[in-house]
Amino acid sequence: MNFFEKVIELPPDPIFGLIMAFKADSRKTKVNLGAGVYKTADLQPYVLESIKEAEKRLLEEGANKDYLPIDGLPGYVEATKQLVFGDADSRIYGAQTVGGTAALRVAADFLREHGYGPLYLSDPTWANHTRIFKDAGLEVNTYPYFDPKRLCFDFEGFCNALKQMPEKSIVLLQGCCHNPTGFDPTFDQWKEICQLMEARHLFPLFDFAYQGFGVEPEQDATAIRHFVQAGLQCAVAVSHSKSFGLYAERTGALYLVCQNGVEAKKVGSRVKMVIRGLYSNPPCHGARLVSLILHDEELKGHWLNELANMRERIAQMRRVLVDLLEIKTTRFDFLAGQLGMFSYTGLDQGNVERLIAEYGIYLPKDGRINVAGLNQENVTYVADALLAVTMN
Ligand code: LMR
Repeated sequence: MNFFEKVIELPPDPIFGLIMAFKADSRKTKVNLGAGVYKTADLQPYVLESIKEAEKRLLEEGANKDYLPIDGLPGYVEATKQLVFGDADSRIYGAQTVGGTAALRVAADFLREHGYGPLYLSDPTWANHTRIFKDAGLEVNTYPYFDPKRLCFDFEGFCNALKQMPEKSIVLLQGCCHNPTGFDPTFDQWKEICQLMEARHLFPLFDFAYQGFGVEPEQDATAIRHFVQAGLQCAVAVSHSKSFGLYAERTGALYLVCQNGVEAKKVGSRVKMVIRGLYSNPPCHGARLVSLILHDEELKGHWLNELANMRERIAQMRRVLVDLLEIKTTRFDFLAGQLGMFSYTGLDQGNVERLIAEYGIYLPKDGRINVAGLNQENVTYVADALLAVTMN
């Protein structure tokens, strides 16, 4: 008997599959605008100098490899809490997680167990969101987010959708640098969203994976801090993959904002059981590095400078791309209003297929580009290709 006879092969992952396809392409002119990974101006992976310094110190300290507690390294959880929320509020329970993905999954399991759902995602959203929440047993729906006609954030559509959602629905919000569109609500719009969610008893679950890639980290946290200050209970899934360049170290955290410390303790006991059943406890290396950096003023200053450099290189490449496109068409002008690592180009699947096949320019089917994959050498080639596939 063959147990696996009926297994049907799936197509490659919409984002990770591109990494393999790009590697296999032998064209010298190929460009990787796929996965959201920061690249230097020479398009090399970037290990931050502050991370290297922290690694040196860790090695000297000779930390052991014992298990961490189920909810991770306390110093890391507290320092990340401070970074996200601006203070060490004891109403907020925190757990270290295996990247932002596990934070979302743990939140989903905990919320489903406590009767929350369905869950609403922005349309469009990060390609992996639907799988994470469906696998957690939640019904997944969408709300309008990007207006394809006006090429901007669809605030009205979003608010109308919020008004229709049943009580106790979970609404996945992206704290800053929306993936894939690059469009965030303004602060006034966030305030209205917050009010509406409170009035309708909807639960905000923030995905916060790009702190410091839009503007200063403090400012990127404004929306989340507003919800907390307004007295809403919410959850925040944090990823340090991008902000600290710790992609492979799976360094994330989940925070649940409760009414008081006693409730936070009870919530923590349940979250720990979810984690124990999923992956037992988190890995230590990335968390030790982040903790070291955030607890040391000099290292922290160094990291903030490096973060600013990454942010500025991306913003500059976006400007160059828009300027090049603008010479021929106004069609792409809306890219100038986007923030963070990604630009949503409005290309359709046919355009994307041509970019890959004819030009070796790799990007996901939804037309999102990773702006950090551009540099002075390839940006003209990319601009010309964008024009060619959309105008001919
Ligand atoms: C992305 O959106 O490209 C990144 O978050 C990488 C991933 O895990 O998909």
